[in-house]
Amino acid sequence: MLLVFLSIQLFVRVLSEATLAPPYHIRVKSGVITWSPAAEDTDVHYTVQYRRFGSTEWENVSHCFNTSFISCNVTFTKEDSESGCVGLRVQAERRGLTSRPVEACSRLGDTCSPEVNLTSRPGSLTAYLRINSSMVHEYGGHIQNRVYYGKEGETLEKNYKDGASSVSIYGLEEGSLYCVKVQYLLDGEVLGTDSCIQCERIPQSAKGSHLTLTLVLVGVLAGALVILTIVYVLIFHLKTIKLYLQPPYTIPEHFLYRPTIIHLLSSPTEDMEDVRVD
Ligand SMILES: *[C@@H]1O[C@H](CO)[C@@H](O)[C@H](O)[C@H]1NC(C)=O
Ligand SMILES: *[C@@H]1O[C@H](CO)[C@@H](O)[C@H](O)[C@H]1NC(C)=O
Ligand SMILES: *[C@@H]1O[C@H](CO)[C@@H](O)[C@H](O)[C@H]1NC(C)=O
Ligand SMILES: *[C@@H]1O[C@H](CO)[C@@H](O)[C@H](O)[C@H]1NC(C)=O
Ligand SMILES: *[C@@H]1O[C@H](CO)[C@@H](O)[C@H](O)[C@H]1NC(C)=O
Repeated sequence: MLLVFLSIQLFVRVLSEATLAPPYHIRVKSGVITWSPAAEDTDVHYTVQYRRFGSTEWENVSHCFNTSFISCNVTFTKEDSESGCVGLRVQAERRGLTSRPVEACSRLGDTCSPEVNLTSRPGSLTAYLRINSSMVHEYGGHIQNRVYYGKEGETLEKNYKDGASSVSIYGLEEGSLYCVKVQYLLDGEVLGTDSCIQCERIPQSAKGSHLTLTLVLVGVLAGALVILTIVYVLIFHLKTIKLYLQPPYTIPEHFLYRPTIIHLLSSPTEDMEDVRVD
């Protein structure tokens, strides 16, 4: 028994050591990438990787390879990639273990990421997008945006819609939370870093909320009616109710004469005379 317990404990420890928590909060702004360390272990090192425009392969950023810092200057030039824009991700490493890599995002828009504002309406979501002016200057109408969307918790890569300054997505479930991330699109290929994921709840339509309101009103009115009826019955028909509640048998005659009898017993002399008179 003890042996089984010990081996389970050992197994759990080996399992937890075999995986390393990745860094989080990975942001790019003005050519600098920053992240937050997950594990508090001082032994953790990080490697920043990048992906050129049109490529699916990730390469190590040589000056941010196995570094103990939590930021890195990632200024790329046009010779490195289209317009100097690359995809970026960071992974942690400790004593031979490597974490899952996590992609960076841009929160407020940058040269290589669009600025995104979300607005939700009943059944739809609209992303208002701004492409950095230097990109517009360089590519004109060739540069667009790819808006990835999905319900909270779903993978966002599955569904997307492309557009320039605004993209609306219809047929969404009311009351549900939907999330969006956006990336530049150049001649059908994604470019640069994602915008950070933003989420919005789809509001109920006016029709839906009217129905709810009507149901609530009907409920309140029905409740009031029931209470009023009870009050009316209690006030005006109390006697009738008492009548109905009376025992169904008739009281025997001699019970009705009882007070007289008691009277007779209490003061015999006087009442005897009365009785005689009767
Ligand atoms: C990047 O560095 C890792 C070690 O952390 C190495 O395994 C990998 O081959 C390198 N990738 C490239 C493309 O050089
Ligand atoms: C990263 O650096 C640490 C400490 O300097 C070292 O122990 C480790 O082997 C290095 N890892 C790689 C992949 O170079
Ligand atoms: C990053 O590096 C580039 C060139 O290597 C330099 O021009 C730029 O000033 C650096 N940025 C920061 C924030 O250090
Ligand atoms: C475009 O990007 C540059 C560099 O990140 C930034 O300084 C500039 O403010 C951006 N322009 C807009 C319109 O966001
Ligand atoms: C997003 O909203 C902010 C604040 O309301 C506004 O200043 C900005 O221009 C908007 N951006 C876009 C792309 O609509």
